Amino acid sequence: MQSEALETEGLSQVDRDENGVAHAFREDVLEGLSQKTKAVPARWLYDDAGSELFEEITRLPEYYPTRAETEILERRGGDFAGLIGRGRAVVEFGSGSSVKTPLLLRAIAPAAYVPLDISGDFLRAAAADLAQNFPQLPVHPVEADFTRPVVLPEAVAGLPMLGFFPGSTIGNMVARTAVDLLRSMRETLGNGSMLLIGMDLIKDPAVLTAAYDDTRGITARFNQNLAHRINRELGGTIPVDKLRHVARWNDTYARIEMHLEASEDLAFEIAGRSFTMARRETIHTENSHKFDRRSQYTLLLAGGWTPVERWLDAQQRFSLLLASATRPRNAP
Ligand code: AVJ
Repeated sequence: MQSEALETEGLSQVDRDENGVAHAFREDVLEGLSQKTKAVPARWLYDDAGSELFEEITRLPEYYPTRAETEILERRGGDFAGLIGRGRAVVEFGSGSSVKTPLLLRAIAPAAYVPLDISGDFLRAAAADLAQNFPQLPVHPVEADFTRPVVLPEAVAGLPMLGFFPGSTIGNMVARTAVDLLRSMRETLGNGSMLLIGMDLIKDPAVLTAAYDDTRGITARFNQNLAHRINRELGGTIPVDKLRHVARWNDTYARIEMHLEASEDLAFEIAGRSFTMARRETIHTENSHKFDRRSQYTLLLAGGWTPVERWLDAQQRFSLLLASATRPRNAP
């Protein structure tokens, strides 16, 4: 049975053409592949197929972040209850399949849950699932690209908010974009709101590269799905089998980079336009920044959020931070 409060109609904030293709996807791909250094924003990895593949990644032995973050959520419920309190509306940015969410919801007894995701079908299925397990909780899914300002449902206006941004998705952004996003979250959530955010930690590069280049090749399929999606949605002719998955640690920027590398000289078309790639040339498809305590505090503060508390898993691989949107005090 579906919760009465679960609304799924008319809430898409993603601009699409008559074939259901997001306008921004077409623009980002054509622009990104016309640059000297080819790159496509990482958020386009998450169509329904990509979201399914990412769920598979979270179960891989090499991919520790999901298990480490889940451990923190399981263990620290008492801390969350004390510091966050009851009755907030939880707004989850990029909810995906929302598997971690029940742990948080059980701990803090919120007044409403608003999952935001760019992948509409995936979002609605996960929201319906969650609403079943929390029949008393009003659930208001919104299909939106949360890198742009999001209009929250009328039903939660006026409630104190808790933003929930798990998974170290903030790490997909370069500093400038991450700060813009944190500031826009603060804007969306309002004064007095709080933010619970996951951030992966800097560690042995061998552990990191293994997490992003698993032996079963699931991450490779996740990466190559972007090329399949371009072919499918934008009438592309990319020979996907000639694009090799590469995951490399960039120590200067403290990030794992995913690339699609041409195994030979290539020529293909997308939306009627011609593109070439030289052998060994890459399309940069994702950054996954890793942090230490100082870089985390700098990032949060630059984004308008005051750190309140920070938790690590027992093996100190991953962190969860709580921050609040208090008005800045006068400072020297
Ligand atoms: C969804 C951003 C948390 O960066 O670890 C996993 C995406 N990419 N494997 C990450 C991802 C390759 C993931 N996040």
